[in-house]
Amino acid sequence: MQLIKLNATDSTNNYLKQLILERTLDDFSVVVANHQTNGRGQRGSSWLSEKDKNLTFSVLKRNISIVANQQFLLNILVSLSIVKTLEGFNIPKLAIKWPNDILSDHHKISGILIENLIKNKQIEYAIIGIGLNVNQVKFEGLSKVSSLKNIMPLPVDKDELLTKIIDKLKMYFKLYSENGSEFLNSEYESYLFRKDKPSTFISHDNNLFTGIIRGVSTSGKLCVQMEDFNKEFDLKELKLIY
Ligand code: BTN
Repeated sequence: MQLIKLNATDSTNNYLKQLILERTLDDFSVVVANHQTNGRGQRGSSWLSEKDKNLTFSVLKRNISIVANQQFLLNILVSLSIVKTLEGFNIPKLAIKWPNDILSDHHKISGILIENLIKNKQIEYAIIGIGLNVNQVKFEGLSKVSSLKNIMPLPVDKDELLTKIIDKLKMYFKLYSENGSEFLNSEYESYLFRKDKPSTFISHDNNLFTGIIRGVSTSGKLCVQMEDFNKEFDLKELKLIY
């Protein structure tokens, strides 16, 4: 495994994407940066992280035997790797907010941005970008965001965290290749935020509605039980209010 440590870059996902065009990289190669000047989040958002405080890194995953229409499985593998690592550090009340926000006690502490190169309906490789708030204590204007430092009495070592997350990623990819995805879906759902609880959502056309999250489909849609029917939603169609 190659570990590339950078002082600063625009985005570790961008850096790794470019690097793989220029040279051959091992499976699970990692690019980690102390500072990102243009960190990217889901749905075209930005990922802001104070310099030197947090973990911002990207992992290259090759040889993925997942067909393109099941790429949600990658979200499952990565989310579980982070949650299980954090459990090992005794981080309390961990949950996965669909599709892949990692929460501790209802506050987002980690976000994931996976970018796949797809060829002939197969994932050629994936760039797995992970932001984990470790030592930043203030998140201006973001009331539902927090960090390990705000949650834990003792400091957590960033390098140790990074190594443990990579180890868990390796373990989960191996588990998947040996046992398939069935148990992974149920493990993911066991951490699903607000599962089986009445919740309020806002639709893409700004309507509020209530429903109960029952799980996630194999294609990664959120399965919501409404008053008279069940419906599957994709990411663009709804937002959970909490
Ligand atoms: C989210 O919106 O929740 C996803 C955030 C992903 C942030 C990480 S930080 C490392 C990698 N590089 C990026 O530009 N984004 C991801």
